[in-house]
Amino acid sequence: MACGIVAVVASRKGALRKPLGEVIRESLKSLEYRGYDSVGFAIITDNGLVVRKSKGMIDSVTAKLGFSEFDGLVGIGHTRWATHGPPSDRNSHPHTDCTGKIAVAHNGIIENWNELKEMLVRKGHVFKSDTDTEVIPHLMEEFKNKGMEPYEAFKATISLLKGAYAIAAIDIDAGNKVFFARKTSPLIVGIGDGANFLASDIPAFLRYTRKIIVVSDDEVGYVTSSSVFIEKLIKKGDKGIWISIDIGKRLRTVEWTPEMAMKGGYPHFMLKEIHEQPQALASTISGLGEKLDDVVKVISAANKVVLVGAGTSYHASYLGAIFLNNLGEVFAQPIISSEMKWHIKSLSEGDVMIAVSQSGETIDTLLAAREAKDRGVKVIALSNVIDSAIPREADLVVYTRAGPEIGVAATKTFTTQVLVLSVIAVKVAKYRGIVNEGASEAHLRAIRSLPETVNKIISKYEAKSKDVAKLMASKRSAFFLGRGYGLPVSMEGALKLKEVAYVHAEAYPAGESKHGPIALVEDGFPIVFTAVSHEEAELIKSNVEEMRARYAWTIAVTPKGDEGHLKNVEERFTMPELPVTAASVAYVVPHQLIAYYTSIIRGYDPDKPRNLAKTVTVV
Ligand code: F6R
Repeated sequence: MACGIVAVVASRKGALRKPLGEVIRESLKSLEYRGYDSVGFAIITDNGLVVRKSKGMIDSVTAKLGFSEFDGLVGIGHTRWATHGPPSDRNSHPHTDCTGKIAVAHNGIIENWNELKEMLVRKGHVFKSDTDTEVIPHLMEEFKNKGMEPYEAFKATISLLKGAYAIAAIDIDAGNKVFFARKTSPLIVGIGDGANFLASDIPAFLRYTRKIIVVSDDEVGYVTSSSVFIEKLIKKGDKGIWISIDIGKRLRTVEWTPEMAMKGGYPHFMLKEIHEQPQALASTISGLGEKLDDVVKVISAANKVVLVGAGTSYHASYLGAIFLNNLGEVFAQPIISSEMKWHIKSLSEGDVMIAVSQSGETIDTLLAAREAKDRGVKVIALSNVIDSAIPREADLVVYTRAGPEIGVAATKTFTTQVLVLSVIAVKVAKYRGIVNEGASEAHLRAIRSLPETVNKIISKYEAKSKDVAKLMASKRSAFFLGRGYGLPVSMEGALKLKEVAYVHAEAYPAGESKHGPIALVEDGFPIVFTAVSHEEAELIKSNVEEMRARYAWTIAVTPKGDEGHLKNVEERFTMPELPVTAASVAYVVPHQLIAYYTSIIRGYDPDKPRNLAKTVTVV
């Protein structure tokens, strides 16, 4: 899974108007979503290298260890989600060498750490943790012992590593520099005024700068307070040559403001992000423009289309596949990224893969995209993060413009993903002559109105969602049933409830529910029915009655006008009548609100579901 790393190099003390330890604490706080089982920093102070680290959440650890009291010009920080070695003080990052001069923070997994560690132990290095990461400072020390300068020693170290990594390293002998390297795990440079930054994600330094450089795979370099140097090893026959990268060409300015990355007055990011959906949908719509033309042509000409994603992005993929099958009459299939391996052989040139990932870094989705590309399949990335791994490797890219999503549970990124996929399908249907101008305009009009529609749904149903949550909070299990488009919406509702409120929730095709699941239904068992159209509502009517006959507690998320034949449900969320495209986006909103409030009532923190991290970079 993910960890978060940060690094800062300032030109002079006070350049950032606060002690470096406090800057690192704030930056780590913005990366808390990437992991939160242990925290640490290393700063080069007037008294040498100071390392403070401990198991625990950021707020308590940074207060206990007094992060804010330490100052210096160079420092690194880390927030960890354990992969090698259980969460503990000794396994927390940064890790140091034997001399205590070098400190390293790392996100990813070093696959060959065991053999490297054995070699280093044979040479006399003493390890203080169970982590894969600790081989890095010891290797740097080893190369320095052989006479290399610190940066050369860092590069030599990186060349020995196999696996995935984003690394920030400091060395007292290197002075005011942070060395960095990236392979697979994300790493961004922030160019500030009087200070430069490195981080796993942009919100870490948004308070100080919006100017960024995204470090690419296999790049190595260093930052000082006023410069950035990046180089890449290019293979020439048996030899490798280092090519330095033109920084000017890579510089970007992001549109995100610091406020966008903070809670903006809401108690939790999840609630803030649910409320941000109108804005996220609006900016995604405005960002689409003409850019979809190539995507539409490629999909329209495809033999078949697979949509891959994990978790919520899989649910968006599922909707995308139904849109394409049903509206565009293109054969499309949703596949869970980590299962793609068993389907890949059916793909070849002429097929298209849509890789859906808000972070653009989910390793299973990235690997699926790579395998598809190797087979000559055209890969289209749908992501929320500019220049992230999957977009960089894809043939074509479409971005959602949801802004940073900090809550671990995906909300605004789901609705924006579904919006984009629905627009693509409508355009494919039009391009292929399956729908006429009038029908496609009816979809697009409703899609363009989604910001307003979603706003109204939130205002109308926030209080009711809280009421439903009061009862839901006392339940141990729930079913989410739907047919057609209502099924992936139900799957998303069930995922939200289980991940943030820890209520066991299972989504099932409504028509299939009597082939097994109904055996669990007893008095008061919660069943949430979703139908995005009158057709679907008509079809679930008999399922509702079957469940009511077993005294289930039934909740319906259905379009206006279906109150009549679904009159017996206990709780009703009457939704606006919309084309299936826009409805598939809008009808998930009550599900998100019910999950959020059930989590709150049960006393949990919905932003940090246990055992989960926002970006999953291990298979
Ligand atoms: C659920 C959730 C996860 C992600 C999944 C994929 O609320 O957030 O299930 O959807 O880890 O992440 P991305 O979309 O970044 O590939």
